[in-house]
Amino acid sequence: MNFKKTILCIGAGYVGGPTMAMIAYKCPQYKVTVVDINPERIALWNSDDLPIYEPGLDEIVKTVRGRNLFFNTDIEKGIKESEIIFVSVNTPTKTYGTGAGMAADLQYWEKTARQIRESAESHKIVVEKSTLPVKTALAMERILTSMNNGIRFDVLSNPEFLAEGSAVKDLEDPDRILIGSRETPDGLKARDELVEIYANWVSGERIITSNIWSSELSKLVSNAFLAQRISSINSISALCEKTDANITEVSRAVGMDSRVGNKFLNAGIGFGGSCFKKDILNLVYICRFQGLDEVADYWEGVVKINDYQKERFILNMLGAMFNTLAGKKICLFGFAFKANTGDTRESPAILIAGRLVEEKADLIITDPQALKNAMIALSDINGQINYVEDPYDAAAGCDAIAVMTEWDMYAGLDFEKIYKSMTKPAFIFDGRNILDHEKLFEIGFNVYPTGKPALTHF
Ligand code: NAD
Ligand code: UGA
Repeated sequence: MNFKKTILCIGAGYVGGPTMAMIAYKCPQYKVTVVDINPERIALWNSDDLPIYEPGLDEIVKTVRGRNLFFNTDIEKGIKESEIIFVSVNTPTKTYGTGAGMAADLQYWEKTARQIRESAESHKIVVEKSTLPVKTALAMERILTSMNNGIRFDVLSNPEFLAEGSAVKDLEDPDRILIGSRETPDGLKARDELVEIYANWVSGERIITSNIWSSELSKLVSNAFLAQRISSINSISALCEKTDANITEVSRAVGMDSRVGNKFLNAGIGFGGSCFKKDILNLVYICRFQGLDEVADYWEGVVKINDYQKERFILNMLGAMFNTLAGKKICLFGFAFKANTGDTRESPAILIAGRLVEEKADLIITDPQALKNAMIALSDINGQINYVEDPYDAAAGCDAIAVMTEWDMYAGLDFEKIYKSMTKPAFIFDGRNILDHEKLFEIGFNVYPTGKPALTHF
């Protein structure tokens, strides 16, 4: 079959896989190939057991795989054959050298740029899909053109805004698609080519364009703003616990102001996920590098409050359970960093589990999707940890349940049955405020919500 465009994506992760599956699904006239250096990941993308869990993704991949979506490890061939190359490799926080713990580690990114330069035999549009520090496109351009071989490369920024757990919906019906380009005739032409792809299913007013630096920076700032709302509400949850105010009521009252809006105001155990912390720290690093210490301090506060919220959760548990957790059995309901994903990267549950083990508690962890990743995330921790799929089996014989992830299924469990199976006094720490606290209290539990008065029988 003759395809109208050939598209390559380098990096078959949480972003590359679903994003390209959506493009292939919406645009049968394009050939879309996703490549990765990790052969196991590619094998999973070609199997019935996809490497990531996202509601709705299996169906889309099944429809388009082998039709106009292909997964393989031949990066060189992919580069040669494609006109448009998305780069969606990981950009984690640097763990070594200058900027360790703050700056983005661009080694995977740079390797990809060099590989494109070495394999390309004709004009390419290279699209930054990964989240990157502002001005990365300049470095990309310099690497790509350093061979002086007459091949033209146009670099665009097209950050991804999908959230895990709702990736398919976010990709199908995005709030906006942002495309940044050089404002030269070539840059604008390349930008229009990318606009044309998204215009297959996204309405024109939702496809916005900007200069390339604004686009790169907008991605970091979007994540910083979202995380800032969570830290804001979490900071107030601490004050609620001291003053008998109720964080759900405060958040409803504040969020009903249409200037504020009601989303992302759920207090909890702190934000997790692979991106919020790394992107804010990257923003902080860039601000410091530019001599803007006050700005850097302001954004760093968002991460500090997030760490404080996790620590507070542990201290609350310890205080409520008579200042000792040694030998007590604690069941963690959920381990994913949020519901509807199996991803545990930077999940608050990792730190909380580690701290509970330090207190010599025995842990039983249950999660409908994330147990495999939980085992990997906690493999370095030396302690008594069991992984149990069924939440009823997991809770039986425990002293306490701590809700780590807001899976819908937890609210629908039979807590009478769970209470009967637990050691008394039985405690519930609802780190996500998803349970019916009054009802749990009536059943006999001592209930500790987040940002609300505790309900106890003592
Ligand atoms: P990921 O770790 O799931 O996937 C990255 C993939 O790139 C891996 O499979 C890795 O093997 C591959 N890779 C690394 N170097 C490579 C190379 N030289 N050649 C080929 N493949 C290579 O990461 P992710 O979660 O998909 O994130 C990718 C980027 O997108 C990051 O910059 C992230 O900040 C950004 N982002 C992520 C999300 C999200 O929800 N996870 C959302 C928006 C943006
Ligand atoms: C986030 C952004 O929402 C995406 O737009 C962005 O593309 C992505 O980061 C990225 O760049 O990686 P994601 O981390 O997948 O998406 O999930 P979110 O829904 O943002 O949740 C992040 C964390 O905040 C989770 O731990 C969640 O439980 C927590 N959260 C969220 C709260 O504690 N309270 C809320 O009100 C909302």
